[in-house]
Amino acid sequence: MSAPLSGDQIAALGNEAAVIATRAYAPYSGFHVAALLIGDDGLIASGVNMENASYGLSLCAETSAFAAAVHAGRLADVRAVVVIGGRMTDDGLAGEAPVLPCGRCRQIIYESAALQGCDITIHAFSGDRERRTETSIRTLLPDAFGPANLD
Ligand code: THU
Repeated sequence: MSAPLSGDQIAALGNEAAVIATRAYAPYSGFHVAALLIGDDGLIASGVNMENASYGLSLCAETSAFAAAVHAGRLADVRAVVVIGGRMTDDGLAGEAPVLPCGRCRQIIYESAALQGCDITIHAFSGDRERRTETSIRTLLPDAFGPANLD
């Protein structure tokens, strides 16, 4: 089992996520999100939300990050997810409430946890980085449907 991230490491990852969130394609909501996927050896993949003129086809940051983890062959290596989200302003991301993964993203994160037979820690930051919530995917999605149900 990996050592938990230190407070300094988590703060540094939150700062990194805030920079990456500037690259979100979110012209319709103006709400930028970034997700970093962390393994025992550091950053595995990152993603940002990608909106679409059809609205409904928009992709969340966590979903695009996990697609990148699959592409890297690392879906079963994710130990922690760092998420930040907020309205983009001239001064950077705004927002006082930590952004936790939406329902669909929780299911996608759970797949990685189920493959490993373990939990995945979620570090969720508010856009202004003044607040942070720490939880886990098995807390956010209890009694989840997963690969074992298909056995
Ligand atoms: N969004 C994410 O990327 N992740 C979440 O966990 C919540 C919402 C995105 C989707 C949409 O582009 C914007 O935030 C507003 O909902």
